[in-house]
Amino acid sequence: MIPNRLLPVLCGFGIAACASASAVPFTEQGAEQQQILRDVTGAQPPGQLSGRFLHITDFHLDTYYKPGTAVERVCHRDKGAAGPLGAQGTECDSPEALIDETFRWIEDNLKGKIDFVLWTGDSARHDNDERKPRTASEIIDLNEILATKFIDVFEDKETPRGLSIPIIPTIGNNDIMPHNIFKEGPNRWTRRFTEVWARFIPEHQRHTFEEGGWFLSEVIPNKLAAVSLNTMYFYESNSAVDGCAAKSEPGYEHMEWLRIQLELLRERNMKAILIGHVPPARAGTKRNWDESCWQKYTLFLNRFRDVVVGSVYGHMNIDHFMLQDSHDVDILAANENAQDNPDFLVQSRSTYLNSLRENWAEMPSPPADMSFDNWSDSELVDAAGGALGKKERRFFDKIGGPWAERYSVSLVSPSVVPNYFPTLRVIEYNTTGLEGVPLWADSPYSDDSVESVTLDDESDELDEQVQKKKKGKKGKKGKKKKPHFKVPEHPSPTAPPGPAYSHQTMTWLSCAQYFANLTSLYGGTSEGEDTAASNINLYTIEYDTRTDKIYKMKDLTVRSYFELAKRISNRNPRKSDILPQDTEPFFPSTPTKEESTQEDAAPLAGGKKNRNRKKHKNRVWRTFLNRAFVGYLSGDELDEVESEN
Ligand SMILES: *[C@@H]1O[C@H](CO)[C@@H](O)[C@H](O)[C@H]1NC(C)=O
Ligand SMILES: *[C@@H]1O[C@H](CO)[C@@H](O)[C@H](O)[C@H]1NC(C)=O
Ligand SMILES: *[C@@H]1O[C@H](CO)[C@@H](O)[C@H](O)[C@H]1NC(C)=O
Repeated sequence: MIPNRLLPVLCGFGIAACASASAVPFTEQGAEQQQILRDVTGAQPPGQLSGRFLHITDFHLDTYYKPGTAVERVCHRDKGAAGPLGAQGTECDSPEALIDETFRWIEDNLKGKIDFVLWTGDSARHDNDERKPRTASEIIDLNEILATKFIDVFEDKETPRGLSIPIIPTIGNNDIMPHNIFKEGPNRWTRRFTEVWARFIPEHQRHTFEEGGWFLSEVIPNKLAAVSLNTMYFYESNSAVDGCAAKSEPGYEHMEWLRIQLELLRERNMKAILIGHVPPARAGTKRNWDESCWQKYTLFLNRFRDVVVGSVYGHMNIDHFMLQDSHDVDILAANENAQDNPDFLVQSRSTYLNSLRENWAEMPSPPADMSFDNWSDSELVDAAGGALGKKERRFFDKIGGPWAERYSVSLVSPSVVPNYFPTLRVIEYNTTGLEGVPLWADSPYSDDSVESVTLDDESDELDEQVQKKKKGKKGKKGKKKKPHFKVPEHPSPTAPPGPAYSHQTMTWLSCAQYFANLTSLYGGTSEGEDTAASNINLYTIEYDTRTDKIYKMKDLTVRSYFELAKRISNRNPRKSDILPQDTEPFFPSTPTKEESTQEDAAPLAGGKKNRNRKKHKNRVWRTFLNRAFVGYLSGDELDEVESEN
């Protein structure tokens, strides 16, 4: 099962396949692999968009990583099981070999087939070895190595910018020192990253970036912008700043900038994708962001629902999504300083996932006999053309209409660093109507400045603040009772719902999640198995929402995620969402002693065992959990996660 070109990396570490696999040339694509890659076959004709982009996150490159060392020593020393391409399921960071192979895979499989890259931070290793404390220059070096690898893959000297597609980076909480702590800009980090990312940050945005670590890039000129948020200013664990409510805070300024950008984009009839490192997780006792920042973000996503196509994050290393509920927005509350949540750092991932599920269970449920398929995109009529009944109307009222506009969605991709297995994802979007538009690669830098439309008094206000700050006149912290920021307008009442809500150009259609099964790669042929398939690539499809029989997502609209969340949280799932019980269990697991005795005694009676069994019934929830951990956990381990609540 080992791709030939990986052999030099893998051999010498006692991997049995090395001896036998080397005979198969890697150019021979197995049928299985062709099937797996059908999603990204066919480069677009030159000069056309492909309708796909790559989201990749949390590389955590560690140049001290040494194969054969102990995972307890973060794969730096002593003898142990650290594999040549990373130690899956551990806290070790990524060896350069994994990073190299990942980029090689991207070059072989995605180059020429994607329109842009969203790269959501944490490229440097963790500061988790007291014998090798990180230094500022090491962090910058690691980031430079990664920036260079992107440039090497996507370099195109014949285009005005020297790159074939735009790469949009953002700062992670481990890309700075000490980790999590990021002061108001400009600071040494914003300055250094301006240099490291000089090829990625549009020229006229460099000043903005140096000031605050945020920027915007028109990934499809005049059509679509990627907005790179500096989530360090929203991050609850960043003790150098204090949320988004007080005017003196960089988080406040960041939100003002974001609001103005979204207004400008709306004026220009453009759409936006938001990206950041730390996602706005807010479930159970977990609060990634300061509450005042979460409030503004949720408010903006709701008000700019005609502009924002979607948002992607990293940091948490588990595959999941979150729904922001605009009914949770309370502008005055947003002004108060949020509570610290010292608990959340130790709160386990499974507790968090269970809290998410509880939140989703509390969202309005569709009437029992209503299938989401009956929702018409254009009117409140069912698929058969009949007007909706009272119950349906009431339900729609609760969720903000047939497109669930009450909510917005943030997607979190798992990491390259193999906390579980290395991953990356390719998202497909609708490019109907964008045939022949000028591409980023063909637009000279000077074209970027089209966006300098002035926004009368608001931008003046922002400018004033910036000026004040420069003079060092800081406002008083947290004193004001009334929020002082402009609440953005709703979309025009005649505007159609945005691409995050209803099918149109830019709407996200599907997500193909790729992963590298290092377990299989390291051990697959150790028992002399057939090596015919030894030329597979490092990353293969874990699941693709386009064909997935369990999620059954027609697209990646908010409504589709709302529906999925309701199915995941349903404790009385509809028939097709129930784990098959008569046949083999979906995920085999050994019952505990107690369970099996009860089972024998009273196979169908009530009591504790039945409650347990009920929890295991929903296979959408089970699949969601399995995927959260990239398929790494065993059935028993998943049982544990499930039984946590
Ligand atoms: C929705 O569709 C399902 C089948 O897809 C049908 O059984 C049901 O009656 C429909 N409901 C309404 C309200 O039209
Ligand atoms: C893409 O958008 C166009 C309108 O812009 C729409 O007619 C079409 O159905 C969409 N395609 C898909 C696959 O959703
Ligand atoms: C990874 O590979 C191992 C060994 O071949 C296999 O047992 C396991 O099921 C695979 N995991 C996934 C998620 O495919």
